[in-house]
This record gives sequence, structure tokens and C-alpha cells, in this order.
Amino acid sequence: MEREELKKLAGEKAVEHIEDGMIVGLGTGSTVEYTLRKLGTLVRDGLKIKGIPTSIHTQRIAKEEKIPLTTLEENPVIDITIDGADEVDSDINLIKGGGGALLREKVIAFNSKKVIIVIDDSKVVKALGIDFPLPVEVVKFGWTSTKKTLEDFGCNVELRKIMGEEPFITDNSNYILDCEFERIAEPEQLEIDMNNTPGVVENGLFIGLVDEVIVGGKQGILTLDKESVV
Ligand code: A5P
Repeated sequence: MEREELKKLAGEKAVEHIEDGMIVGLGTGSTVEYTLRKLGTLVRDGLKIKGIPTSIHTQRIAKEEKIPLTTLEENPVIDITIDGADEVDSDINLIKGGGGALLREKVIAFNSKKVIIVIDDSKVVKALGIDFPLPVEVVKFGWTSTKKTLEDFGCNVELRKIMGEEPFITDNSNYILDCEFERIAEPEQLEIDMNNTPGVVENGLFIGLVDEVIVGGKQGILTLDKESVV
């Protein structure tokens, strides 16, 4: 099966967790877009939910799909969030932020009773950070100094740019610094230490936030959850 089919398999499977009356966190990315499109058909068939988007891009898709939207201010507790990921390790910890939406994604995941991640099997890794750089959202002010401080964590740091030209700007008007490690040995500690760096708004490590990962693979759907973590 092509990668796109595996994403679709996982993305569409996730809607089975969504029930009438739920407040649903709507993730960002190409895999969860399959969830959003499928959810749109269910909503048009009568499913009553309200969504909280994790990005302006997702808000646009939700509007196209006529999914009713609300805000964290109106509904501070989210029943379920469905989102994608860039890497998932054996403890179901994640790297997120390849699409630059990590800050809102983390706020929404943190305030959710249940978090489900949808991926294709290429995203399952032995250790975080080997193949994918860790995205870190930083304020523009003093970003070159913040970059130097982040390099002290043992990584190469690049300012994310669009088409190699202009800096990428997040939905919160910040920059993204992509931090390339050989591997992230202690993700729990790194998450805390990076967020203690002045200028850092949030980093893309999602530690202990996930309840279930739906993996689309050539053999079909595989589910990883807290029980399968050893
Ligand atoms: C958005 O900032 C990211 O966290 C995405 O959720 C992640 O990059 C997965 O996206 P894809 O499903 O497009 O790979």
C-alpha cells in the first residue's frame, strides 16, 4: 500500500472514538486531515459535536466540512483530541510540530481527557530525534541568542524558512527553530530544560500526553496504548 493509503486508514479509523455531544480537539497535518474529512461526512449525517482546531489551517478545513467550532474559553475541557505526529517512540511519546502547529497542539492535548494519535508506520521509531529534528517555537525577540542557547543541548539548530527564503511564521506570530540531534536520549528531561530557556515558547516533545496511537501499516491497523508500553 502507498503511504497515503496508510495515513487514510489510520486517520479514518479514529472517528470511531467520536460520540454525539463530544467536544473534539482537531489536530493538524496530512494524516489527521483524513479524520477531519470523514468527521465532516458524519456531521452532515447528523453527528452532533463541536471542534476546537489546533491551527488556522485546520480551522479552514473544519469550516469547509461544516464542522461546528468552539473555543477553549467556552469549553475548557476537551473530551477527545485526534492529531498526527512526526515520530512516536515505544513509550508513546512524540515529536510534533513538523507543520509548525505544536504550541496550540500541545495546549489542546494537555486539556483533553483522551488523546489519540494517527500515523502511518514510518513514524514509529526506536528513539526520538534520530530521523526528525525537534521543532521549538521561539519568540522573534533575541532569537539568535535563543538559538545559541539551544545549541548547548547538543544539537544543530536551524531557523525554519519557507522555500529557503523567508522565516516561517507560526499562527502565534513566532519563529520555529528546528533542532537536529543524533538522538534524544532523555526526552522527559529535555522537554523541561528546553522550556526553561528564555525565548522558548514551547517545544515539540509530547511526553505522557497520549492515550492511544492508531498506526496504519501494510498489515492493517495496529493500536499502541499505555498498556502496550513496557
Ligand atoms: C503539525 O504541527 C504537526 O505536529 C503534525 O501533526 C505532524 O507533523 C504530522 O503531520 P503529517 O500527518 O502531515 O505527517
